[in-house]
Formats: sequence, C-alpha cells, structure tokens
Amino acid sequence: MTGKKQPVLIAVAGKGGTGKTTICGMIVRYLAANGKRVLAVDADPNSNLNEVLGVEIATTLGNIRETMVGREKSGEPVPAGMTKQEYAEFMMGDALTEEDDYDLLVMGRTQGAGCYCYVNGVLKTQIDRYSGAYDYIVVDNEAGLEHISRGTLPHIDLLLLVSDCSRRGIQAVGRVSRMVIDLNLRPGMTGLIVNRAPSGVLDPGIAQEIEREELSLIGVLPQDENVYKYDTSGMPSADVPENSAVKTALRGILSSLEL
Ligand SMILES: Nc1ncnc2c1ncn2[C@@H]1O[C@H](COP(=O)(O)OP(=O)(O)O)[C@@H](O)[C@H]1O
Ligand SMILES: [Mg+2]
Repeated sequence: MTGKKQPVLIAVAGKGGTGKTTICGMIVRYLAANGKRVLAVDADPNSNLNEVLGVEIATTLGNIRETMVGREKSGEPVPAGMTKQEYAEFMMGDALTEEDDYDLLVMGRTQGAGCYCYVNGVLKTQIDRYSGAYDYIVVDNEAGLEHISRGTLPHIDLLLLVSDCSRRGIQAVGRVSRMVIDLNLRPGMTGLIVNRAPSGVLDPGIAQEIEREELSLIGVLPQDENVYKYDTSGMPSADVPENSAVKTALRGILSSLEL
C-alpha cells in the first residue's frame, strides 16, 4: 500500500509560564539541525513561538479565517476569477512563514462567532495537505489542546507535558493527562519534562507529586541563566549557545526519544 507519509506530531502542553514555548522552539531548532523537515505550529492564542525563534510573521490563520468569513458575509466568497480551492491555497500561503530550515504556522484566534463550516473545512483541508510535506510537526499548545481536540491538527504521536518545579505545575499536567484520556486522543506516547530545576536536580517533593499524579518522567531541564539573559534582553531564546545547560539536557532527552 502506498499511503501518504504522515509526519510525526509532537505536542507540548502544560501550565502557562512553565517553558512550553521555549522548549518547543528548541525542539524545532534541534530537529531542523538534524536535517528533518519541520513545521512549527503556534497553537496558543497568545502566540509567541515566533519570538522565541526570532521569526517575523505576516499573518495568522485566525486573521485569514476572519477575512474569508468577511467575504462569505459580503456575498463574494472569492475574488473574481478564482475558485474557492485556489483562494484557500493562496491565503494559506500567506499564513505560512518559510525559514531556511523550517516553516512556521501561527493559528492565532481561529474561533470567531458563528459557524462557518466552509471556512473551517478549507483551513483543515489545507493543513492536512501541507502537513504531508514535513517529517515533524511541533505544536506549541495552550493547556486545553484546543486545536488537537477539535481535529484541526492531526493525531498526537508524542505528547510532552511541561511543568516547572512546583506541585501546582505537576498537578496541572496531571489534569491535562486525564483530559487527554477523557477526550480519547490516544497519543502514541506521553512523557513529562520538568523544567527550570535548580541546578537540574529534581526535588524529592516534586518526584513524589509526579508519582502521585501517575506521570511518566522523561527528563529534567535546569534553570538556565542564558535563557534568562536572552529573554530579558529581547533576544530569541532558541538562539542560546548549543553548550548551554538547558540545550545540552534537552538534546539528551530528545536523543533518548530517538527523534
Ligand atoms: N530552563 C529555563 N531557564 C531559565 N528560564 C526559562 C527556562 N525555560 C523557560 N524560561 C523562561 O520562563 C518564562 C516562561 O517561558 P515560556 O516558554 O514562555 O513558557 P510558556 O510557553 O509555558 O508560557 C520565559 O521568560 C522563559 O524565558
Ligand atoms: Mg507559551
């Protein structure tokens, strides 16, 4: 059978401020540096993956949806001489930022008032068509996994739950992991990354909470001064040197996952 090759979808989820976007950006860079074709998807309505990566974006899928809905309402759904399909492709091209070694798609706020099934349908079709061109899709999510649970984005192969070193952070990812079961999303694999650990060491109290929440820990990332410095001086944090503590630890995790 010669089916279309599906990309591996990696979704990152967890409480706000735990480092999801930072980790996502670094995973995108890691995979791209290893010659993989990567689509980075910013699925958090408060998008900032582009800042971590240092990429300027032209527009978001949410803006495009607005434009298309506006045209639907005005009674002229597509510009003269274009089919709906051509128009959708043209618009989608605008939302995709192409870098040398990866592409970035920003979802933005894609849920407006009213049901515009045609618009949602074409956007989903476009995402399905585009996704075939990549080896990996890396999705920076809000905690609710909105786009994945609604089926806008494909099935999750690897769900990376990110927590800081707080009991509340661990409890938050515990809830995400139960929600994933309730929604029947069935990720291929789910693993926890604890981020910003002082000196990269996991506190015993946090280890206890992880066990209590029945989460599977796949790695610990240290609090890293470089990330802090880049962030505070407005530089893309995915640009921290390769020998930075956090990047070194992340490479260890990613290579153990055989990505
Ligand atoms: N390992 C780390 N060391 C130091 N600072 C970090 C680390 N990971 C994330 N940060 C910082 O924590 C803040 C929140 O990170 P961010 O990736 O935006 O989290 P989220 O996407 O989960 O809201 C940012 O200021 C970021 O630079
Ligand atoms: Mg974020």
